[in-house]
Amino acid sequence: MVDILIKNGYVLTMDPTKGDLEKGEVAIKGNKIIYVGKSYEGPAEYVINAEGTVVMPGLVNTHTHAGMALLRGYADDLPLSSWLEDHIWPIESKLAPDDLYIGTKLACLEMIRSGTTAFADMYIHMDRVAKAVEESGMRAALSYGMLDLGDPEKAERELKEGKRFVSEFNGAADGRITTMYGPHAPNTCSRDFLIRVREQARKDNVKVHIHVLETEAELNQMKEQFGMCSVNMLDEAGFLDADVLAAHCIWLSEGDMDILRDRGVSVSHNPVSNMKLASGIAPVPGLLDRGVNVSLGTDGCASNNNLDMFEEMKMAALLHKVNSMNPTVVDARTVLEMATVNGAKALGIQAGMLKEGYLADLIIVDMNRAHLTPLYDVSSHLVYSARGSDVITTIVNGQVLMKDGTVLSIDEKEVLTKAREASERLVSKS
Ligand code: NI
Repeated sequence: MVDILIKNGYVLTMDPTKGDLEKGEVAIKGNKIIYVGKSYEGPAEYVINAEGTVVMPGLVNTHTHAGMALLRGYADDLPLSSWLEDHIWPIESKLAPDDLYIGTKLACLEMIRSGTTAFADMYIHMDRVAKAVEESGMRAALSYGMLDLGDPEKAERELKEGKRFVSEFNGAADGRITTMYGPHAPNTCSRDFLIRVREQARKDNVKVHIHVLETEAELNQMKEQFGMCSVNMLDEAGFLDADVLAAHCIWLSEGDMDILRDRGVSVSHNPVSNMKLASGIAPVPGLLDRGVNVSLGTDGCASNNNLDMFEEMKMAALLHKVNSMNPTVVDARTVLEMATVNGAKALGIQAGMLKEGYLADLIIVDMNRAHLTPLYDVSSHLVYSARGSDVITTIVNGQVLMKDGTVLSIDEKEVLTKAREASERLVSKS
């Protein structure tokens, strides 16, 4: 007997060997998908009638700082340096471990509601972040954000904490939590520190999550310091490999893109954050043409200001069309791949497709809505017209976290109240 059988929905498998099923069925046993096809023969513990909906893989957010949900809307419309130095860093320094717990809980609630089933996080007080992820039922690849700023003693402390987090939490929450090393960026970490982190990640067999060339200032600083850009410096240091998840990657040359392809680096594209902070436009069509694994991320809520991956998909498609003055680039299907298949690959999880043997991380999107009517092309609607709030059911690891719009794994009212209280404390202390 299967645990969950989803019937009568349009099944967007994202599996190129299978294609989409106009009316299909998905069966789940334990934490895995065991059947995707026209009709499942056999009994089921629990049947979901998905008539009028799209059943699809859960979205994967490959770059965020979930706890920053508490800083949503705290500082907007400012120059990057003032935003960071006068507003974000001062309030971040006041974040207590419990703030990270409630901020991450709030982020998980928002992600479950908007169809994200897995995310890559880099932040602080990660034990409390992990606790929030464990309780919410989500899947996450967590990294402690490390930066040494060239201080050898700080480097020692940061690496020690990064190692502790990896050894204690990799595989936690029945495998829903994996860990990564999170050296912040090439201009906030020394070259020696980056090399040490690189070696430790290989030793521990975990991935590395890093910001790369988010700003032109980083590019200029690296050229001044090393006579080369971040990608070249990292490559010469032996840092770049198929286990690296590089966020942003805006200020890339053609040669940098070749290096990222040759090393098998995964890139997390964050169009909303990049537009909001006026960081620049990542050369996504060039990366995709080369076959680089490009996924999507929202970045933190202080620079987005939400975690809605449907919005991120639409922005990704639109940004590259207007930037290239070519409406055919980064089409709807490509964007869906970035948000599902490519994201799962970047995190190293067997998800992102509805396929036998894959993790049961999937969502159900209600298409019976004015802004989704009529329906000619499902992929087009999901990218250009759907919103996170159209997601009605979210399943992670075979567990139903939201059913027909009701979140089951989180006490929604309590989280919203506590998040408001935490925000009041943060502002009153500043
Ligand atoms: Ni970031």
